[in-house]
Amino acid sequence: MTASLQGKKILLGVTGGIAAYKAVEVLRLLVTAGAQVQVVMTAAAQQFVTPLTFQALSGETVRTDLFGPGTEPLEHISLGQAVDAIVIAPATANCLAKLAAGIGDDLLTTVILAASRPILVCPAMNVKMYENPVVQENLGKLRQRGFHILEPAAGEMACGAYGSGRLPEPPDIVAAIACLVTPPDLGGRRILVSAGPTHEDLDPVRFLTNRSTGKMGYAVAAVARRRGAEVTLVSGPTALPAPWGVSRYLVRTALEMQAALESLFSQCDVLIMSAAVSDYRPAGLAEQKIKRGEEEMLVKLTHNPDIVAGLGARRQQQQVLVGFAAETQDLLEHATTKLQRKNLDLIVANDVSAPDAGFAVDTNRVTILDRQGGVEVLPLLSKEEVADRILDRVAALLAERRG
Ligand code: PMT
Repeated sequence: MTASLQGKKILLGVTGGIAAYKAVEVLRLLVTAGAQVQVVMTAAAQQFVTPLTFQALSGETVRTDLFGPGTEPLEHISLGQAVDAIVIAPATANCLAKLAAGIGDDLLTTVILAASRPILVCPAMNVKMYENPVVQENLGKLRQRGFHILEPAAGEMACGAYGSGRLPEPPDIVAAIACLVTPPDLGGRRILVSAGPTHEDLDPVRFLTNRSTGKMGYAVAAVARRRGAEVTLVSGPTALPAPWGVSRYLVRTALEMQAALESLFSQCDVLIMSAAVSDYRPAGLAEQKIKRGEEEMLVKLTHNPDIVAGLGARRQQQQVLVGFAAETQDLLEHATTKLQRKNLDLIVANDVSAPDAGFAVDTNRVTILDRQGGVEVLPLLSKEEVADRILDRVAALLAERRG
């Protein structure tokens, strides 16, 4: 899932570490998301990847030098001011030391000294170097001065060692950049999101489920995080990675999802319930695999709790509750009944019979209903755009309740 960065201008600084090859993918994702990217490379970075690679992908001349042919007189001042944000990925220990000491001895470091835009630094180096107290001290200085630091990931490194120091995955870097250039209108809000299907076990190898992939709920979680919220995601089984910056709890069954949401609900300002919770589960769980037998087999099912209705019954008035209604007929009528019965503020009515909406696809076509009888019909949008429109309504309700 890539954030929209349409019309945003980003400066990508690349320094000389083995992870410089990953900066190529960061650039590709930024361009795909609609950003205009100016790449600035240090001399050491060019030992790992050529400027031509970045130039071909960005469509812009890569800047490498302070002086010499092709350089503009005040480029080191103008470059860092003509953009919405700056990211340095990877940032070597040497680069961190120079930034912390205020050294400007090449184009990238002088650009940073003159910049007035948010700067995201993505350190990447061997674990021993990363743990070195002087590197940690430099990172501390940068944090104090308002630099945003994206913590490196842990895992196997290019040198074969294990530990912290790997450059985070490019989609996470792009999500962190998107955060920097998005107004934080949900800052300070705690948003709880549910997503995905539930698995209701029949025997040790079989379960009942539905077609939810989690895409809609994960988009809500990612966009809420981008808009500054503290986001917790309770997810049924999906193939999706946790969105960057979001705390994720994985569950399997409706009962597990209920337990997780009930324990988190009282600390949230907003609940957005996009999970496709199974309404029924097998009445009994067979201890052993059920054997093939008679021509027909009857499975007895029992009701699962209606999770959001239970939370709606004990909500505090200032909390905002949003449900989804997945319908194949009489969309608005059924959605209105669910909005009232579950004591929600908003319900997102979702016609899941349309091929380009609902389960598994990247787009959705929904109508948002509110308690005052308001009906907002949205066109076909990407799931991220739908998430933004739902969160616009949530932000308005939160502002109203604040008085
Ligand atoms: O995951 P994707 O592949 O992207 O698909 C997205 C989606 C179609 C799953 C999503 O857009 C959607 O519509 N989610 C709600 C699915 C659903 O369970 O709808 P419902 O009409 O059965 O339930 C109404 C509301 O009650 C929902 O908010 C649901 O989460 C909640 N519910 C339902 C049953 C139950 N036992 N407990 C609940 O809390």
